[in-house]
Amino acid sequence: MFEKKSTQKVGRNDPCPCGSGLKYKKCCLGKKNPQFNTLKDLYFKRHKIRLKEKKDIDGIRNAGRLVIDTLGLVEAKISPGIKTEEINTLVHEFTIKNGAIPAPLNYRGFPKSVCVSVNEVICHGIPGERVLKAGDIVNVDITSIVKGYYADASKTFFVGTPGPDAQKIVKAARECLRISMALVSPGNTIGDIGWAIQRYAEGQGCSVVREFVGHGVGFGFHEAPQVPHYGRKGDGVSLVPGMVFTIEPMINLGNKDLRILKDNWTAVTADGSLSAQFEQTILVTESGFESLTPFD
Ligand code: MF3
Ligand code: CO
Ligand code: CO
Repeated sequence: MFEKKSTQKVGRNDPCPCGSGLKYKKCCLGKKNPQFNTLKDLYFKRHKIRLKEKKDIDGIRNAGRLVIDTLGLVEAKISPGIKTEEINTLVHEFTIKNGAIPAPLNYRGFPKSVCVSVNEVICHGIPGERVLKAGDIVNVDITSIVKGYYADASKTFFVGTPGPDAQKIVKAARECLRISMALVSPGNTIGDIGWAIQRYAEGQGCSVVREFVGHGVGFGFHEAPQVPHYGRKGDGVSLVPGMVFTIEPMINLGNKDLRILKDNWTAVTADGSLSAQFEQTILVTESGFESLTPFD
C-alpha cells in the first residue's frame, strides 16, 4: 500500500536498485540487462562460474547440434567386429569436415579425438585395437569445439543384442540422467542433482562413481562448477539462468570403486563389472532447463 513509487531518478553515486550494495555507477548503470550482469559478476566472484548470455548459448547449442549429429553417425556404425579405432576415425573426420575441433585430442595429453569405453571401462577409454563383440556395451563421449564454443555429450550403445546385465545397467544410467535433468531449475541446487542420481542408482542395486563429475562447459572443456553424481539435497550452489553444465553419471553394476590403467587414462571398475554412462550439456533457463545436446 505505502510502497514508495520510484519516480525519482537513481543518481550515479546512489546505492544500486538491484540490491548489490554497490554504487549505481559501479553496478547496473548503462547495462543492457542489469540483473543478469549483477548475477554474472557475483557467480564469477563467488564460485568462478561463468554464466552464459544469449550469444554464448546460441554458440553452445550450435556446437551441441554437431555433437548429436556425430553421435547419430557413430550409432549407425556400431556393430560386432568394428574396432574402437574406427569410431575415432569417424568422429575425427566428421568433426573436421564440419569445420570443428575434437576437444579430446591432445587435451592434457589424451591421444585421440573421442573417448570410447567398452563394458568394464567407466570412462576415458582410448580408441585402439579393441574389437566390439555382440553383447558388449560401448560409451562414446564426444566434445566438439565450434567457433570457440564447447558442447559435450555421450551415450552408451548396445553392440548386437544385449544380455540382461547390459540392459539393466544401460537403463539405470539413462534413467539417472533423465531424472536429474528434470530437477534442473532456478532455486534447486547442484546437490539436488547428485542426490537424485545416487538415490535412483542405489535403489536399483547399482553404484555411483565418485572420481569423475559433471562440469561447467561452454567457453572451455571443464569449467566450474563440479557436478557430483552423489550427495545431499540442498547442498552446493543454487542454480540460476545462464548456467551451463554437464550431467554425466557413471553407474556401475557392481561396486563404485575404480582403477586407472597403465596408460594413465582408462578408468575401469575395480570388480570388473559393467559400467554405463549418459551425458548431456544442460542450460538453466528461467523456467527450468534446456538440453543443448538433446536426445532421449
Ligand atoms: N568428455 C569427457 C567429459 O565428459 C572428458 C574427456 S577428457 C579426455 O568430461 F581427455 F579424455 F578427452
Ligand atoms: Co563428455
Ligand atoms: Co563432460
